[in-house]
Amino acid sequence: MPRRLVEPAFHLERSAPEPLTVQLSDALREAMSGGTLAPGERLPSSRGLAAQLGVSRTVVTEAYQQLYAEGWLEGRHGSGTFVTEHDVLPVAVSPPAEAVTPRWSREQARRLGMTDLRPGAPWVRDHDRAAWRRAWRHAAEQAPDDDPDPRGLPRLRELLAGHLRRTRGVRIGPENVMVTRGTGNGLDLVGAALLGAGTRAGVEEPGYQKARTILAARGARVLSCPVDHDGILTEELPGGLSVVHTTPAHQYPLGGRLPIPRRERLLAWARANGAMVVEDDYDAEFRYDVAPLPALYGLDPGRVILLGTLSKSLSPDVGIGWIVAEPPLLERLAQTRHGLSDRTSVPVQAATALLLERGDLDRHLRRMRLEYARRRRMLIDLLGPRLTGDTAGLHVLLPLPARAVAPVVAEAAERGVLVDDTSRNSHGVPTVHGLVLGYGTAHPADLRRACAVLNEVIARHTGNGPDRRRGGG
Ligand SMILES: Cc1ncc(COP(=O)(O)O)c(C=O)c1O
Repeated sequence: MPRRLVEPAFHLERSAPEPLTVQLSDALREAMSGGTLAPGERLPSSRGLAAQLGVSRTVVTEAYQQLYAEGWLEGRHGSGTFVTEHDVLPVAVSPPAEAVTPRWSREQARRLGMTDLRPGAPWVRDHDRAAWRRAWRHAAEQAPDDDPDPRGLPRLRELLAGHLRRTRGVRIGPENVMVTRGTGNGLDLVGAALLGAGTRAGVEEPGYQKARTILAARGARVLSCPVDHDGILTEELPGGLSVVHTTPAHQYPLGGRLPIPRRERLLAWARANGAMVVEDDYDAEFRYDVAPLPALYGLDPGRVILLGTLSKSLSPDVGIGWIVAEPPLLERLAQTRHGLSDRTSVPVQAATALLLERGDLDRHLRRMRLEYARRRRMLIDLLGPRLTGDTAGLHVLLPLPARAVAPVVAEAAERGVLVDDTSRNSHGVPTVHGLVLGYGTAHPADLRRACAVLNEVIARHTGNGPDRRRGGG
């Protein structure tokens, strides 16, 4: 295919309700799916297209970024922007449920009195107020720093290393830890340091769609890595990957726990292919009925980068996470970060350090483990043994026949219960169908009512009521 430069002809409507960026990305997507823009063709520079369309360059760069993230476009080092030669589906097939259910924000859902069972958020209403105030008073007492270390506050790195040694079975010290603003920030830094135009990164399918967006925004071509009910399928990893993002402790969203032999095979694959495995340990603190497996990182620290976060164990609002890696790689990440002028707020780190130092975080975790275990048990009792992926974290999967998913999601929303389904976590056509139910933010009384609504709605669309016998997990 000759790589000719195309001059797409689009008409953007300034008075239309859609922002110009959305109009442009829609028009480009349509041209690519309709074949007007063929795989391998080169698009004009953002400056050129902006001039041609009479819009600001930001409109074009944002539209391009969105299409990079969706896998439609790829960058070639120094030579421009091209339409991807797809060997995977280039874009999420519009989730059927999305078409009928508006995407309420959590705040809107609360105001409308809805019970929000969409996964991803923890319970934040029972923190220890005295400990919280003490932590922030301590942060306020520190003088501002004029040259923050991109790796983070030494004291916090030391405390986090101790916390991870105890909770995740890894043998590390502060030299292995960089303090980030969360998993997303950590993954972005890994992408900035290890990826770029012409590289390939793998993300689980179904999987964490933000990981796909973040790695694509760093220029990598993102390929899907299929999973089954245990986690990532090591025999089906695509070739040429520099980085693979995976969730071995609790596969997002299906909930599998990657068995030891597969962990070994994943690492053998990484060694043979010169790839790095990014272990997203987002909800490993919460584990039920089965013993936790130590982090993958411990099996081969030279091949794994461990990403953690306080987003589930405390709150995404705090904005603290960590990268664990071997010191030379950590140093490289620190240099990349310094070059990006990216950092974690020092006062936030100081407050977090005090929460760890005084045992407040451990106490909070112990309380929340009990609370989440209670809610999980309630879901199992009320929705029956059809739930899967329930041995960790704050969400479960309720498999449904494909045809029932969209009507169940829509009708549950009409009756005040917001749920997600697997299509939202799939890049291509979903291969597993069902509801993804988060129990982090719903009060137990609301959870009980929501389960009753779900049982009724599911029974109407599948002909099955709840089965109260509990099978395997
Ligand atoms: C798979 C996965 N990773 C990470 C996170 C948390 O990301 P962050 O630390 O950026 O808030 C989530 C939150 O829902 C998640 O589902």
